[in-house]
Amino acid sequence: MDLKKSGYLDYEIDPTLDLFEEIEKIKKEKNAIILAHYYQDADIQDVADYIGDSLGLAQQAEKTEASMIAFAGVHFMAETAKILNPGKKVVLPDLRAGCSLSDSCPPDKFSAFKTRHPDHVVISYINCSAEIKALSDIICTSTNAIAIVNSVPKDKKIIFAPDKNLGRYVMEKTGREMLLWEGACMVHEIFSLEKIIQLKNRHPEADFIAHPECEEPVLKMADFIGSTTGLLNYTKKSPKNAFIVATEAGILHQMSKASPQKTFIPAPPDNLCACNDCPHMKLNTLEKLYLCMKYEKPELEMNEELRLRALKPIQKMLEISRQHGL
Ligand code: 13P
Ligand code: SF4
Repeated sequence: MDLKKSGYLDYEIDPTLDLFEEIEKIKKEKNAIILAHYYQDADIQDVADYIGDSLGLAQQAEKTEASMIAFAGVHFMAETAKILNPGKKVVLPDLRAGCSLSDSCPPDKFSAFKTRHPDHVVISYINCSAEIKALSDIICTSTNAIAIVNSVPKDKKIIFAPDKNLGRYVMEKTGREMLLWEGACMVHEIFSLEKIIQLKNRHPEADFIAHPECEEPVLKMADFIGSTTGLLNYTKKSPKNAFIVATEAGILHQMSKASPQKTFIPAPPDNLCACNDCPHMKLNTLEKLYLCMKYEKPELEMNEELRLRALKPIQKMLEISRQHGL
């Protein structure tokens, strides 16, 4: 991989270096911590201090006492870390690691939408920009979305943004009508219902488990629906020995590590490459992680006025999560 082509990482890496060792050294020298999402490459997960879902990552970022957070995930996750813990230096392997779901909700359009529905409480999924967070009343993740929606008084109307699939799922679970923003994740929308049915027929012994960002017909077939942490815990506890997994394939690394005797089959997408990798998450590599920690860039910078506005709805989410033991 040509690191120079990534625009700002124009440093050569000595090919004889053991990057795992070098990263461990940098962690100690700089009092740094690596937070990684489950969708990262196995190498990155193996060098991380904490691997988790969006809620877990936000909670870790808030409480860390490290001087530098190397955030191996996508931009909105690193941004959330900076919003919660502005005193820390937050560096990312690749500043371009965005999110199709976050991009599906541009702040100017969302602001106009919100103005058209002034009597609504705005709940936004954490997969959105700081600008959208600043326009929201409460943030949620896939782990706490049901608890967050239930925390809103029954007589209040709700806007739910930006993921329409998670929104629809939460509407069904809570019985609350919500006005949904029509956003979606490119990875979770690509699963082929037809191929999943065929796969289920070939593996009747397997449970089919899915992330709530998947489309409704896929969710209808699922034996279990949950956040990445929820899915991982389900595979650990279940007496079943095989699972068809409808979410980004990076999570299979932790599933296989936790239950090496079990079989994990990635749900097939509706494309020819047969992979369900998130192209944004996968922009991060071990090499880029090493470089960002060594040179302390690219760094996530945040406007203080925006940070303070985005902080409030995230803090509300964390408080409600605490009350629910999440
Ligand atoms: P969680 O890990 O919080 O379930 O989110 C999944 C996801 O798509 C993150 O981008
Ligand atoms: Fe965004 Fe989907 Fe990638 Fe998660 S998997 S970062 S929601 S595009």
